Amino acid sequence: MVLPPAVTIREVGPRDGFQMEPSFIPTERKVEVIDALARTGLREIEVTSFVHPKAVPQLADAEEVMARLHRVRGVRYSALVPNQRGAVRAIEAGVDGVNVVVSVTESHSLSNARMTPEAAMAQAGLIARLCEEARVEAGIGFATALGCPFEGIPPYRVLEGMVGRAVEDLGYVRVSIADTVGMANPRLVRKTMDRLLAQFSEVTFCLHLHNTRNMGLANLLAGLEVGVTWFDSSVAGLGGCPFAPGASGNVATEDVVNMLHEMGVETGVRLDAYLEVAAAVRDLVGHADSGVLTAGPSSKLLGPYRPSASPGRVPS
Ligand code: COA
Ligand code: ZN
Repeated sequence: MVLPPAVTIREVGPRDGFQMEPSFIPTERKVEVIDALARTGLREIEVTSFVHPKAVPQLADAEEVMARLHRVRGVRYSALVPNQRGAVRAIEAGVDGVNVVVSVTESHSLSNARMTPEAAMAQAGLIARLCEEARVEAGIGFATALGCPFEGIPPYRVLEGMVGRAVEDLGYVRVSIADTVGMANPRLVRKTMDRLLAQFSEVTFCLHLHNTRNMGLANLLAGLEVGVTWFDSSVAGLGGCPFAPGASGNVATEDVVNMLHEMGVETGVRLDAYLEVAAAVRDLVGHADSGVLTAGPSSKLLGPYRPSASPGRVPS
């Protein structure tokens, strides 16, 4: 197995995670989480999204979050946007990067953004120009690229066509491939990413994986093995798209970091420090979906075995 020496992790918990929480997390708490995450060695955090506040009321405080966070040097603060209006807001708020989302399938596009994929691509074109003028990094993320809850897995040629237009016509070089509701499998990820990497060698591809059916880490490994070196993941495994039935959390950042470090792949994230933040986030929202948060990192041993007085005795 040939693995890269290091990868980049984009933390998406404050956006993908907090957008899915049933109740509004106060701005002050969001800022505390983002600031704490920024001190764990992460290099990029997607901090919020500039969408319609009625569509995602949980993130209606996007401007305030951007204004109140304390920037840590070396960390890129980016935000998701669905359209030109969102990009204008994000740029005005001072983001370092704008991530425009385009659904590959029509039904998810209509449900999520109330526009066709074609209209979303047109928005992506306008956004690329806005970002260029503002000297803000622009990335594009393809939702439902590896599976759609309404239409199944889109044919590769459809995805390839959309990536081709984004890269060749619109000039995007940061492209995220999203498994929005965890429908992918390692074989599909391997095949898709292998072809995309070969076809678009100038592009840095990201994998955005949800762990809905517990294949998140297996899918991540499949991508890693064919050369993907950029992954999205979310603190405490929070996340999900409110406009996709059956959505659930992203792969947990702490699980990803633990796995990668155990295999000798660097992320720059300090796992011990990160776990403290993950525990605080779990306590804040009242749930988590993460193995390492429950069991501790693989490197943390319990010491020699000492039998306890009543080792799990079955009551008679
Ligand atoms: N931020 C704030 N307001 C916005 C906006 C944005 N990004 N985009 C549009 N609006 C406003 C318009 O200015 C307009 O306001 P007005 O009625 O006062 O003139 C109004 O919303 C309607 O505009 P329209 O372009 O028709 O938008 P829409 O109602 O069709 O909604 C989206 C389209 C994309 C803005 C909305 O569906 C959305 O925000 N979706 C969020 C998707 C999401 O976050 N999914 C999870 C992550 S993948
Ligand atoms: Zn997601």
